[in-house]
Amino acid sequence: MNTRAIRRGGQLTLENALGPGGARTLADDARHGLTRTLKQLPPKHLYDTRGAALFDRICELPEYYPTRTERAILERVADELIAATGAGELVELGSGSAAKTRLLLDAMAAAGTLQRFVAVDVTEAVVRNGAAALTREYPGMHVHGLIGDFERHLDRLPAARGPRLVAFLGGTIGNFDPAARGHFLRNIAGLLGEDDHLLLGTDLVKDRATLEAAYDDAEGVTAEFNRNVLHVLNRELGANFDPSGFHHVAAFDTENEWIEMRLRAREAQEVALPAIGLTVRFAAGEEMRTEISAKFTRKRVAAELAAAGLKLAAWHTDANEWFALSLASRAGS
Ligand code: SAH
Ligand code: AVI
Repeated sequence: MNTRAIRRGGQLTLENALGPGGARTLADDARHGLTRTLKQLPPKHLYDTRGAALFDRICELPEYYPTRTERAILERVADELIAATGAGELVELGSGSAAKTRLLLDAMAAAGTLQRFVAVDVTEAVVRNGAAALTREYPGMHVHGLIGDFERHLDRLPAARGPRLVAFLGGTIGNFDPAARGHFLRNIAGLLGEDDHLLLGTDLVKDRATLEAAYDDAEGVTAEFNRNVLHVLNRELGANFDPSGFHHVAAFDTENEWIEMRLRAREAQEVALPAIGLTVRFAAGEEMRTEISAKFTRKRVAAELAAAGLKLAAWHTDANEWFALSLASRAGS
């Protein structure tokens, strides 16, 4: 059994779905991704404890508008969302430091519905520390932390206790490629009961300069976040990447409407990954894709929800229409 359930008092439970065999998919992803013509790695490997801390710094940067824009929308509509859904349970996928989550929990507490918060994240320290902090801050609430991959471990969620709101915030849905996004949304549709809702944060298409600055900040925090994946490969797979040998690249692809983050080799290099018996060569200037971050329109969100068996119940955006929060439910409900 790969899962360990750890109980501390009545209010906090933790489950680790990333035990042996359920572990992070880094070795397979590196083996497949680094031997392709366009080298690539899935973005979830950016987030070890250091990567999560760098992401939190990104959220504070003047250029990185998504976090503060989504927060401002949530501040405005959290009470309305909770009244519309009657939710007593909040499940957050990719919860990170759960900073914005507190706005929803406060609205649930004010409405008198708050029972349980379920945090799902692939980064163990993030789940453990976040769950412990929230247990202290909301004494009557049960917190369940699921350390796991939201693409593989949604079946490990505890059974719902009444109307449930599944939140996927921050625009993280944009980090899937389109096929994986469709698959993920269909999984979510399968998870929702008729009284449940999905709250989905999406970053919206806007001018190139604003987008590219958000992913290439003046302080270089995003560059360090991007290069963090090389530190992860060095530590986890015994690789010998020199992170300073790679330049951070962030470019808006207007055709696909996504930001693409890459690492570009400054000069030709050969890297060994002994744990998977692989040697990888980079030509000077060769790039490896580390993340896409898709930008949406209302039309596309509604269409992708519909294709997954979900219907858009409410669309909340800011005055600039830079970011949107969509409330969705099962199409038949
Ligand atoms: N929701 C927060 C954090 C977004 S950062 C916000 O809006 O600010 C993305 C988060 O998703 C990180 O905490 C990262 O560890 C987590 N994550 C990325 N890929 C994941 C995966 N496949 N499964 C579970 N968590 C994942
Ligand atoms: C988590 N995710 C929504 C962020 C994004 O904007 O795509 C990750 C990130 N990458 C670079 N900066 C932030």
